[in-house]
Amino acid sequence: MTSTLRIGIAGLGRLGRRHAENLAFRVRGCQLVSACSPVAAELDAAQRELGVTRLHADFDAFVRDPDIDAVVLVTPTALHAEQVIAALAAAKHVFVEKPLALGVADCERVERAARAHADRVAMVGFVRRFDASYAHARAHIEQGGIGRPFLVRSQTCDLLDPSGAFLKFAPTSGGIYMDCSVHDIDLARWMLGSPRATRVFASGTIAVHDELAAIGDVDNGLAIVEFDGGARAVFYASRTFAHGHETQTEVIGTAGKLLVGAGAARDRLQIADAHGVRQLAVADFVERFADAFLHEMQAFVDACRGEQRLALTLNDATEATRIGQAITRSLKSAMPESV
Ligand code: NAI
Repeated sequence: MTSTLRIGIAGLGRLGRRHAENLAFRVRGCQLVSACSPVAAELDAAQRELGVTRLHADFDAFVRDPDIDAVVLVTPTALHAEQVIAALAAAKHVFVEKPLALGVADCERVERAARAHADRVAMVGFVRRFDASYAHARAHIEQGGIGRPFLVRSQTCDLLDPSGAFLKFAPTSGGIYMDCSVHDIDLARWMLGSPRATRVFASGTIAVHDELAAIGDVDNGLAIVEFDGGARAVFYASRTFAHGHETQTEVIGTAGKLLVGAGAARDRLQIADAHGVRQLAVADFVERFADAFLHEMQAFVDACRGEQRLALTLNDATEATRIGQAITRSLKSAMPESV
């Protein structure tokens, strides 16, 4: 494809705004021409600051616009499945943020729709696959660098927001495992060669946000996942770290071990003074994965233009939801659960 890919974005919130800026100013081979949000102020900002000309409050009109080739969906998780299906029915390429859906049946419906529109790209935003260090780790494993990988220990830990702003989204996010650990679940499958998960066990606690008890959620959660063939994964998710955002993953193999993202250091600056020796911490996922968000969107555009094939599939997203849901059930039942 030589012509520019015309893209529309739905959802201009916390993450949508970041994707929109990348599409407007940094991603090659595309033009951000359209935006959709029920919030008028977000559309005004897209027009004023990003030069977007086609503005929609209504998703159906947005997705059926014949003058866009692809849509990027950064909307609340509960809307993902229906919106992806609508986009494919309108013959658009589609990128959707993680998780694909909160239920396995919805993920499978999306997979069926994608098979019926196999000439369209359908991609889920597992951004860590586009982070240089994670990609390096995966390549090293493929080359046999750590022998046979059999254990992944991975965590997604957010800086405590004392305002508890995330509590507004918590009831519809699917809970801490579907919202945060879903990234670690996908990473574990990717690093271990996509084995089938068989059984999980979860336990969690509320360290700060007591309001989560009413919705059966926790602000610190642990989980163990067993896979066919003997591989295991251990996940930890937190919303209450005092120092910064700390995404970290360890992959242990028969001939070595890999560690991605040790600690939360923002850069290589070390400050030594009367208080001791310290480093400043990464504030949030936007800062940690700024480059990966850009590479991810470039991969989507390149795939739509026929210039790259994506290794990441919708079925990967379905399996991440399947495991995440089993972990969430285990948190509630306090028993091991089959996947
Ligand atoms: P948000 O609540 O800040 O933004 C949601 C946006 O969707 C808002 O602009 C809202 O006006 C818009 N919206 C609501 N209903 C809509 C509709 N019917 N049609 C079109 N737009 C609609 O949420 P946030 O944090 O930006 O999350 C959005 C998605 O991104 C979620 O699925 C979340 O799981 C995912 N996410 C992924 C991350 C990653 O690391 N890959 C990090 C943060 C969020």
